[in-house]
Amino acid sequence: MAECANLLLVRGAPMLNLKAAVENYRALFCLEEVFGNRNPVELEVGCGNGGFILEKAKRNLNVNYLALEICSNVILTAMERANAEGVKNVRYLNIPAEILPCYLGEGSVRKIYLNFSTPLPEKSREKQRLTATRFLQIYRALLSDGGTIEQKTDSEPFFDYSLEQYAKNGFEVREVSRDLHRSAYACENIVTEYERNFASKGLPIYRAVAVKTNGKNSE
Ligand SMILES: C[S@@+](CC[C@H](N)C(=O)[O-])C[C@H]1O[C@@H](n2cnc3c(N)ncnc32)[C@H](O)[C@@H]1O
Repeated sequence: MAECANLLLVRGAPMLNLKAAVENYRALFCLEEVFGNRNPVELEVGCGNGGFILEKAKRNLNVNYLALEICSNVILTAMERANAEGVKNVRYLNIPAEILPCYLGEGSVRKIYLNFSTPLPEKSREKQRLTATRFLQIYRALLSDGGTIEQKTDSEPFFDYSLEQYAKNGFEVREVSRDLHRSAYACENIVTEYERNFASKGLPIYRAVAVKTNGKNSE
């Protein structure tokens, strides 16, 4: 981890209780200082081994990328890859998504990627789904006006749940595809680690873009 300190913005949670942290703790990053420029910022939540964000960063040198992952050993792999490739426009946050407001200011991000977030089908775990209302409210505050969430998943029930959640939480859903790899969006698609695995089994990939609307949330 020490060898990747140049890429790691923050690690762990400031308090044991995440709710208390979100309510009481602020250590907002000045992203212009972090990246040394005023380029737009995009964020991946649950980046896993980080292949997607690394490819994004290499293709788009005029965009800054943040990759968030709760699991330390997984994000370490992501950072080691970025260091080995000498990629300059990506930084990593080893924190739970629940405490994003502690570190990133309102309107600081123009796009959020949710790639193959764990579907958590059990009703009792709904609040932990990364498209549950409490997360969409966090993303909505972080996104600039007209900002977007791009989601991909292999789970149709989770996809349908997410589309409903977007509509209830101040987002307009666009570009819905229920078979991404055989759609018009396939040519620009960057395949993630989980996506490669699911697609190799012949499973369809679901994708949608949710645009932050100006109006008040419907909930
Ligand atoms: C199924 S993996 C997908 C990894 C990668 N995006 C891909 O498509 O290959 C989901 C990742 O989200 C992370 N994750 C789940 N809940 C999280 C949370 N609340 N905050 C941050 N990361 C989370 C998990 O640790 C895991 O690495």
